Amino acid sequence: MTGFIQEIEKRKTFGVISHPDAGKTTLTEKLLLFGGAIQEAGAVKSNKIKKGAASDFMEIERQRGISVATSVLAFHYKDYKINILDTPGHKDFAEDTFRTLTAVDSVIVVIDVAKGVEEQTEKLVAVCRMRNIPMIVFINKLDREGKDVFDLLDEIEQKLGLSVVPLSFPIGMGADFQGIYNIWENNIRLFLEEKKQKIGESITFEDIRDSSLDGIIGGKAARTLREEWELVESVYPKFDREEYLRGKKQPVFFGSALNNFGVRELLNAFVDIAPSPQPKVSDVRIVYPTEEKFSGFVFKIHANMDPKHRDRLAFVKIVSGLFKRNENYLLVREGKKIKFSAPNAFFANKKEVVEVSYPGDIVGVHDAGNFRIGDTLTSGEILNFKGIPSFSPEHFRYINNSDPLKAKQLAKGIDQLMDEGVAQLFTLEMNNRKIIGTVGALQYEVIQYRLEHEYGARCTYEPVAIYKACWVDGDEKSDEYKEFCRLKQRFLARDKYNQLVFLADSAFTVQMSKEKFPNVKLHTISEFSNASEQILMK
Ligand code: G4P
Repeated sequence: MTGFIQEIEKRKTFGVISHPDAGKTTLTEKLLLFGGAIQEAGAVKSNKIKKGAASDFMEIERQRGISVATSVLAFHYKDYKINILDTPGHKDFAEDTFRTLTAVDSVIVVIDVAKGVEEQTEKLVAVCRMRNIPMIVFINKLDREGKDVFDLLDEIEQKLGLSVVPLSFPIGMGADFQGIYNIWENNIRLFLEEKKQKIGESITFEDIRDSSLDGIIGGKAARTLREEWELVESVYPKFDREEYLRGKKQPVFFGSALNNFGVRELLNAFVDIAPSPQPKVSDVRIVYPTEEKFSGFVFKIHANMDPKHRDRLAFVKIVSGLFKRNENYLLVREGKKIKFSAPNAFFANKKEVVEVSYPGDIVGVHDAGNFRIGDTLTSGEILNFKGIPSFSPEHFRYINNSDPLKAKQLAKGIDQLMDEGVAQLFTLEMNNRKIIGTVGALQYEVIQYRLEHEYGARCTYEPVAIYKACWVDGDEKSDEYKEFCRLKQRFLARDKYNQLVFLADSAFTVQMSKEKFPNVKLHTISEFSNASEQILMK
């Protein structure tokens, strides 16, 4: 048993999030390099849409082709096993990215020092905050001129609602960037060459007031660093790991991923402070990683790229117990026992069949169409893990069948694509018409293409004026609720999980409904009860 607990404590499963181009891919790759998992830069293929590609749509297909390889990147560092879960960067993948955040125990947020807080970072961080996920901020591209460091820290606090604690501090920036003062380990590491390619040994200082610092980085830089450091000490609180783990404080590191700078500092601190696998809330109880019996959940489904083979790869995050090859596990939603003869574990950028996996790990299992995102697997216990919310899509269209002989294929195709989390399906209560909601408009083309090539079904779309999908929450027996349903009948639909959704046509309608029916709550996120998550925090 002790061996089992040690294995769990060794594991750190996290995701890197950022706005496209802030340096997520570069940082991930450098982490793998430091972990010795890859030998050269460029080994991890970029999973983002190439700039200037002929067609964004073809790029999405290309991306889908390589994304299995980069979905989970695992490596060993010091005595730890680190699992990095990929969070696709293109805006059209936002839905997928949100889902992956349910399987991480912490995240690293990458911010470009010149661009500051960008739109996608705001959205992703908001989800992490909602779930109290511990976050470390890495401010990247210090080799370039960027925003004033204190202004940027303010911006991060204001726009992202974070409460930061610098654990490293840059010495200069852009052309004057000399290195990093590593507050966490109390040392200084300098670039050795003008071109910023060579990194020196770290120099340990008991105190940055030590006058020898002047001789090393120059009197002016030393003075500035001391002044800035005094400011940091007076403005920001001392780092408290408990607060970080509760998602209340976010340590900040600086560096340049491209130049390998500040990455080792980040990684060393990460393994010191980041959480090992966390307990997870289910509908009946909290499940702890150290429990003997296996449980886990599906957070991602990847369809086979070969249209002739419909099987898919489902990614399961192990919450508790050992996952064993060829053991019978219960797919709770279906009450069905399934065993997996070839579960895959992931390393650097390859995968291989494994006999056992531990809590915190991700296993890839072949799926002939049984799974849905969010499904729970257990050793037999009936419980469902909570916490794979849906967010209101940004775009909505009616979907019509254009080949009456293929109605079954179309229904099956839509069903499976929705299981994968490609888009969301809403069925109108009134007439059963189907509406597809997506985060990015491009997804419509992808769906049409995949329906035709993988399921032999054809569809067309029709515009529909919907502003937001609002999940309805209230006392179904109350007169107010009934009246709301009567008046909004034409705009009510069911989502895939049969939850009632109000498809509002404008912000004004939402506002009016809220005023008129104060006890019928409208949420743009499907999972509106945070209560269960809060149990964990107590
Ligand atoms: P992403 O995954 O967040 O989308 O970003 P990615 O790592 O692909 O980095 C985006 C661009 O920023 C890349 O340049 C990358 O080389 C550059 N970059 C990353 N880290 C740093 C850094 O520390 N300093 C500087 N100056 N640049 C950095 P690109 O020209 O778009 O792509 P590429 O041709 O270099 O691959």
